[in-house]
Amino acid sequence: MDTIDAIKQRRSVKIYNAGHEMPQDDLDQLLSLVKLSPTAFNQQNYRFVLVRDPELRKQIREAAGGQAQVTDASLLIVICADLKAWEKDPVRYWDNTPKEVQEYIVPAIDNYYRGRERVQRDEAMRTAGIAAQTIMLAAKAMGYDSCPMDGFDFDRVGELVHLPEDHTVCMFVVVGKAVEPAMPRPSQLPLDEIVVIDRF
Ligand SMILES: Cc1cc2nc3c(=O)[nH]c(=O)nc-3n(C[C@H](O)[C@H](O)[C@H](O)COP(=O)(O)O)c2cc1C
Repeated sequence: MDTIDAIKQRRSVKIYNAGHEMPQDDLDQLLSLVKLSPTAFNQQNYRFVLVRDPELRKQIREAAGGQAQVTDASLLIVICADLKAWEKDPVRYWDNTPKEVQEYIVPAIDNYYRGRERVQRDEAMRTAGIAAQTIMLAAKAMGYDSCPMDGFDFDRVGELVHLPEDHTVCMFVVVGKAVEPAMPRPSQLPLDEIVVIDRF
């Protein structure tokens, strides 16, 4: 499937085959693809919690208002981010570059994030959103369906997955085998409402 078809065919599916287990090769492929998602300064601040424990899935489903896809999809991925990735030995994000590049980029990273909590958090959400879309399009191309989610109690999910102090929960993506198709698209706004030329 090419990218344009994957974009057109991706829909938010809610009803999954609860008995389906994703083969390890598919999981490996999906994870190797999501690692190619871009991140600012290549800091790779995404953290993907793969929730496998059925009891934990049930508890997370409760924290998500009982939404069935949380327990029934083959994969529940809690996309988190490390808010402090930028200061954790950042030279390793640029290992394969010449020393002069490293000497320039490492102070630039520090200068960009230090003391800017809002920027750190915004960056986490940008990273997660892009990674989520990579997962969903890759999943579609691999014969799976998916659903992005933020309809859950973020604090409770953080407690359940033992979120480290300097991380944040961004969103979920579930991936699995659809039992029912998504509902018809609810609406699509006209382009002239969502596209602005030059200025608002
Ligand atoms: C950030 C975000 C959060 C969402 N949260 C939920 C959710 O908690 N539960 C759900 O069933 N769908 C959720 N959705 C799916 C949207 O309802 C869906 O993307 C939208 O209706 C458009 O449908 P489509 O994805 O099939 O094109 C979410 C989508 C996004 C992007």
